[in-house]
Amino acid sequence: MLITIVAIDEEKGIGKNGQLPWHIREDLQLFKQNTLHHSILMGQTTYDHMPRKLRDRHTYVCSIDPEYQITDDPEAEVIHDLEAFLKQHQDDEEEVFVCGGASIYRQSYPYCKKAYISFVKGTHDVDTYFDAFNMDDWIIEKEVEYEQFIYREMRRRKRRLNKARLGRRGARI
Ligand SMILES: NC(=O)c1ccc[n+]([C@@H]2O[C@H](COP(=O)([O-])OP(=O)(O)OC[C@H]3O[C@@H](n4cnc5c(N)ncnc54)[C@H](OP(=O)(O)O)[C@@H]3O)[C@@H](O)[C@H]2O)c1
Repeated sequence: MLITIVAIDEEKGIGKNGQLPWHIREDLQLFKQNTLHHSILMGQTTYDHMPRKLRDRHTYVCSIDPEYQITDDPEAEVIHDLEAFLKQHQDDEEEVFVCGGASIYRQSYPYCKKAYISFVKGTHDVDTYFDAFNMDDWIIEKEVEYEQFIYREMRRRKRRLNKARLGRRGARI
């Protein structure tokens, strides 16, 4: 199963200059708690901007560049075909956490059945957004409020057919 894990502000902001726009200790602790000893997926930009490698997590790093290699991190594996990866892992029993950035969140959004989101209070100086995110797609299963954010674990809402778009016999019109 693919799970998107992200911290997002009230205008869907998630990043600035390749970095997180904030430093929230409790959010980083939650990220570690959720992802430790699991597989994680991220884009090359997010991976290369991390101050240090994330230990004890198998890290799939996306790059379109066939020359892109990671030689100093034995837990990292480069993925060139993101769509194939998403299709292959969407129904896995194993949890794979989608850890950004913006382009990876956007492309993986339809494939993620769960979302663990820290809703950061207020708006921030950002240049990167998670535009695809829509609260209407999700059902909240767990919610914990912290001083700077509200953490929610959510599962994807099953799509219901809009009755107004159905004929009397239930056929689509
Ligand atoms: N708030 C949060 O929770 C959070 C979490 C993570 C990241 N972020 C923020 O997000 C920002 C970075 O986002 P971003 O969109 O610029 O970068 P990104 O998604 O981290 O990485 C983009 C790169 O991923 C590769 N890629 C994209 N689509 C691909 C595909 N279909 N197949 C294979 N590789 C693919 C490409 O690498 P190549 O150029 O090598 O081909 C592309 O340049 C940063 O500011 C970061 O701090 C925020």
